[in-house]
Amino acid sequence: MWLPIFKLSPLQSRFAVSLAGTIFLILVYLSLHTPSFAYALEDTSFTEEDATIRTAGKEQHLNRRAPEGSYALSNNAPQNLNIDFGVTQTWLFTQETFEGDHGTPGLGLPGDSSNSNLTNRFTTAHRELLKRQSGGTPIWISINTCLQPSSNTSDQNAIPPQLQMYWSDSIQKPGPLTGAEQVEVVGGYAMVQLNATSDIYIGVFAPNNTEGSFTESWNYEIAASNDAPYHSWSNETSLLFVDGDNHAALLVTTDLTNASSNTTLYKDWLSLSPPPYGIFAQSQVNKSILGLSRSYCGLLQNTKITANLKDIENNNVAGMTSRGLGSAPKEQFYISSLDASTQYWGFLAMQRNSTPGIIGGGGKVWSAMNFSTKASDNCALMYNLSFCSEVAYAVPSNPEKYSPSTGLPDLAAVYDSYAAQMYQYFNYSLQQIPCNTTSSAQYSLARNCDDCARAYKQWLCAVTIPRCEDWSNEAPYLAPRNMMQNFVNGSTPPWIGEPDGAQAALLSSVASNSSRNAQIIDDVIQPGPYKEVLPCIDLCYDLVQSCPAALGFGCPQFRWQNTSYGMRSSDPGVLSCSYLGAAYYLSEGSNGLWGAQRVMRAASVALGVVLGILVF
Ligand SMILES: *[C@@H]1O[C@H](CO)[C@@H](O)[C@H](O)[C@H]1NC(C)=O
Ligand SMILES: *[C@@H]1O[C@H](CO)[C@@H](O)[C@H](O)[C@H]1NC(C)=O
Ligand SMILES: *[C@@H]1O[C@H](CO)[C@@H](O)[C@H](O)[C@H]1NC(C)=O
Ligand SMILES: *[C@@H]1O[C@H](CO)[C@@H](O)[C@H](O)[C@H]1NC(C)=O
Ligand SMILES: *[C@@H]1O[C@H](CO)[C@@H](O)[C@H](O)[C@H]1NC(C)=O
Ligand SMILES: *[C@@H]1O[C@H](CO)[C@@H](O)[C@H](O)[C@H]1NC(C)=O
Ligand SMILES: *[C@@H]1O[C@H](CO)[C@@H](O)[C@H](O)[C@H]1NC(C)=O
Ligand SMILES: *[C@@H]1O[C@H](CO)[C@@H](O)[C@H](O)[C@H]1NC(C)=O
Ligand SMILES: *[C@@H]1O[C@H](CO)[C@@H](O)[C@H](O)[C@H]1NC(C)=O
Ligand SMILES: *[C@@H]1O[C@H](CO)[C@@H](O)[C@H](O)[C@H]1NC(C)=O
Ligand SMILES: *[C@@H]1O[C@H](CO)[C@@H](O)[C@H](O)[C@H]1NC(C)=O
Ligand SMILES: *[C@@H]1O[C@H](CO)[C@@H](O)[C@H](O)[C@H]1NC(C)=O
Repeated sequence: MWLPIFKLSPLQSRFAVSLAGTIFLILVYLSLHTPSFAYALEDTSFTEEDATIRTAGKEQHLNRRAPEGSYALSNNAPQNLNIDFGVTQTWLFTQETFEGDHGTPGLGLPGDSSNSNLTNRFTTAHRELLKRQSGGTPIWISINTCLQPSSNTSDQNAIPPQLQMYWSDSIQKPGPLTGAEQVEVVGGYAMVQLNATSDIYIGVFAPNNTEGSFTESWNYEIAASNDAPYHSWSNETSLLFVDGDNHAALLVTTDLTNASSNTTLYKDWLSLSPPPYGIFAQSQVNKSILGLSRSYCGLLQNTKITANLKDIENNNVAGMTSRGLGSAPKEQFYISSLDASTQYWGFLAMQRNSTPGIIGGGGKVWSAMNFSTKASDNCALMYNLSFCSEVAYAVPSNPEKYSPSTGLPDLAAVYDSYAAQMYQYFNYSLQQIPCNTTSSAQYSLARNCDDCARAYKQWLCAVTIPRCEDWSNEAPYLAPRNMMQNFVNGSTPPWIGEPDGAQAALLSSVASNSSRNAQIIDDVIQPGPYKEVLPCIDLCYDLVQSCPAALGFGCPQFRWQNTSYGMRSSDPGVLSCSYLGAAYYLSEGSNGLWGAQRVMRAASVALGVVLGILVF
């Protein structure tokens, strides 16, 4: 009985007695998601009147216009070509086309003003105004590299050079050393906005294979529009890593709206089905994907792991959730079939309707973020609990008893029902407190029983459902637990029998030789030795501050604190203690409704003085 932080008061005894027991859109041809199609066009002759690109049985006609060898681009209609080392291909966006019809907006997102009144944004009058203001017709030209050469040297991870894009309104074959404007292609993506007054020529150049270290060619998609960029990329990641185990990871978007929960906007976001975003993920073992990291088409063709992208079937799950700090709507992704102990890149993506004529149909990708998987199989990623609904992290588990593929609901039920039962005892105690009286008789003007109940639930869920890390993880903030038990594979830990000095000390401490709530973790789940990310001390301070003194809550101090609670790290990439709604690189400013660290600092000063001795 080392878990509780309570001073026992008579009121609390019933509670304590029970507690004592424990504590996005693809082109039709892209939809096949096979790289083979793109190399179908082996020799594109640019001297024919009409070149026909065969793409997965579908024929596309490229209308040739003067000058010889260039191909016309229609508005909001992508073209796809292979290109070989040292070749320049020329495209033409005619004045007649860009001053002609406009595209059709795709489906918008809730509350998106650029979408909610599209008729307004795309009226002829509005466009005429823009044209006069800018001294030309605003046009957007964008490129997505879909396939890149692969290395034929021993460096299988080499990143091939980028395609080059040039444009001009006078040079009819823009390319290197022609004096045309160059637009830098980065990560397989480039976009340029121009105010055009005459035909625009675009050159795409594939660099020479100077060192002979790459083989095969590039394939790219190019599009021009008089409405908006057809392909997009964001310099933000907008995707956070929540936690992972040895084969799965939970990722979440940043808040999708700031609307308060009683608004229709909030509800519209939360009820989006299917959810609007998808993701791409790729192991960092192979760096070559970085050559395509800003290209929707490139990621679609080259990443093996995806979630919520149309026409790609897999077991990965996406859904809207309001879990986490601030309870704002966000989209979460549970991706499985990952490798253990592996670093991955994750890319948030938005598939769009690629039917020719749809504005922005080429999709959007966000910058790469990092996430990694754990090594051992006795931490299981758990989310979507009914009582402790804010819990979303890896918990101690035993794969023999709770199969990683089918046993998670059972495991969740063990933890969740336990926490719910503990909460019920607390509820009985709380009912004996004069919460619901006139304000003068309330225990505090600043806090009421709802605050107390909320703080208790936060604390209880974080404390009864420990956040699990690999036993092999040597991070200083992790606490070893359950050292007396055999590993889940049945082997006996080396320290049992012949412990060294440090191990002997740990083995003799109840904090490290067992778990927090040994009755369910050590006895029922039996995860073997694991490490715990301690709950954040501010959860305890919040509890003490929010609840009536009569309940007798207090936080442990000094060395007792270090075995029960952790401190938040100032490095957003380090989760040195566990709190509900935690995610790596979660920015407090945009996502935290309450500045947890500020609360913590203030509280620790106040409490250090006020709190008395604690029963441990
Ligand atoms: C959209 O804009 C048009 C023209 O300005 C206006 O008549 C219409 O009421 C607007 N619709 C909404 C939903 O705001
Ligand atoms: C096009 O015109 C707009 C509006 O006047 C201006 O903001 C923008 O910088 C211009 N773009 C270029 C590339 O000249
Ligand atoms: C890395 O990826 C590229 C293309 O995706 C592939 O050609 C290459 O074989 C991969 N290298 C390794 C070591 O898997
Ligand atoms: C690429 O190679 C071709 C022929 O081998 C040569 O004519 C051209 O100048 C080279 N271009 C560059 C940019 O090196
Ligand atoms: C790699 O492939 C290119 C083109 O196929 C060839 O020219 C080059 O000699 C090859 N290099 C090696 C090391 O095999
Ligand atoms: C993204 O670009 C904007 C505008 O150029 C810039 O203010 C912002 O800092 C960039 N964000 C990141 C994460 O680089
Ligand atoms: C929410 O508000 C913050 C701060 O004002 C802002 O940075 C952020 O972009 C807003 N988020 C959304 C989705 O509107
Ligand atoms: C929604 O809640 C906020 C505060 O929670 C309140 O100020 C606002 O009046 C509420 N709006 C509606 C429409 O109920
Ligand atoms: C991902 O990790 C690499 C190296 O570990 C680092 O350089 C990069 O900044 C990280 N990216 C993000 C978005 O954290
Ligand atoms: C979450 O659990 C509910 C029932 O508890 C279930 O209906 C829903 O499909 C689950 N969601 C996910 C993403 O697993
Ligand atoms: C306590 O339990 C009662 C009856 O089960 C329920 O109505 C009440 O909402 C609970 N109180 C809290 C704070 O959960
Ligand atoms: C407080 O009292 C009001 C009316 O007396 C009642 O509706 C409400 O459920 C009570 N709240 C609690 C937590 O008991």
